[in-house]
Amino acid sequence: MEKIEIQGLYGKSTVLVGERIENAGKYLPKTKVFIITDENVKACHSVKFPQFPTYCVEPGEGSKSLETAGELYYWLLEMGANRNSFILGIGGGMVCDLAGFVASTFMRGVDFGFVATSLLTQVDASVGGKNGLNISGYKNIVGTFNQPKFVICDIHLLSTLPQKEYLNGFAEIVKHTLIADAEMFEFVEENIDALKIYNPSLLEQLVTHSAKIKAAIVQADELEKGERKKLNLGHTWGHAVEKVTGLSHGESVSVGLEFSARLSSKKGLITNNEYWRIVNLLIALNLPICVKNNPAEIYDAMVMDKKKNGDSIDFILMRGIGDVIVERIGLDKIKEFAEHG
Ligand SMILES: NC(=O)c1ccc[n+]([C@@H]2O[C@H](COP(=O)([O-])OP(=O)(O)OC[C@H]3O[C@@H](n4cnc5c(N)ncnc54)[C@H](O)[C@@H]3O)[C@@H](O)[C@H]2O)c1
Ligand SMILES: [Zn+2]
Repeated sequence: MEKIEIQGLYGKSTVLVGERIENAGKYLPKTKVFIITDENVKACHSVKFPQFPTYCVEPGEGSKSLETAGELYYWLLEMGANRNSFILGIGGGMVCDLAGFVASTFMRGVDFGFVATSLLTQVDASVGGKNGLNISGYKNIVGTFNQPKFVICDIHLLSTLPQKEYLNGFAEIVKHTLIADAEMFEFVEENIDALKIYNPSLLEQLVTHSAKIKAAIVQADELEKGERKKLNLGHTWGHAVEKVTGLSHGESVSVGLEFSARLSSKKGLITNNEYWRIVNLLIALNLPICVKNNPAEIYDAMVMDKKKNGDSIDFILMRGIGDVIVERIGLDKIKEFAEHG
């Protein structure tokens, strides 16, 4: 088992890669614990859950909402939760975001932890203490920065993930390699066939590596004033794709990565060869690299996004493979590029 620690402003967070859900009790306090999960995760794994009151939400991005959070606050009150209670989110990125948000706001904040059950959340969403909800499909418009006490990344839980959800996790893995690790990019390129099949020991390496990259960046800039913005690679465009098309988060990030690679190539920051290596890797992972929708529609959704800054936006561009830069780009330039290349 690998332990990765993040010292946050309000306390320490420990990511436990390779720990088993059956051992969750070791990390839970003696106070009242409440579990939040979704129906798919419950159906596959509830026999292994620790025995505590459990609220099960509908699977899907629609549950990452203030409405569901409201239902959870009522449930917690009815169940006698108080400021010393502990919330355990067991699920993918949706459940982690929802549980982290509810825990961070219920009675001005109670402690919480996660059992991360999807590849995407083990390598990314559960790590780093960003807890966001969507408003009318716009992504993570309300949220908090608040670290979970622990994150259990039990690799065995991934065996029940549908293949499509499994591959979604690779969009964030590829993102992390593009941000910080050219060697790991090559490793994924070279081992693509083995990686596409559930293989616990390979996965443990990959989750450890990816979670370490994210944890190091979060440690350097927990509140996203500078360095952490790099983790938005593929997301500025990707979140707008997600809003407009309803594609999954991983798929939308993949489309966003292609957009960023194409723009970086146009600006001479990556070579044509590097552009094609990135695109071919995404295709080999069965991830989409483009959508049929009108780019103007996606652009409009992007402009509604919270990350804009007056009439410009902090865009993350690739500088070769394994390095990125944050560049402030005029919205008119992005519009022009989106519509005409
Ligand atoms: N907070 C952050 O820093 C951060 C970072 C990246 C992504 N995110 C968020 O994470 C979400 C995407 O996460 P996701 O891809 O895990 O989505 P998800 O939580 O919706 O899970 C995807 C699907 O897999 C199912 N599932 C999860 N674990 C399973 C298992 N072990 N067996 C069978 N089915 C399982 C879920 O029920 C769901 O249907 C998005 O909302 C995204 O915005 C947040
Ligand atoms: Zn993401």
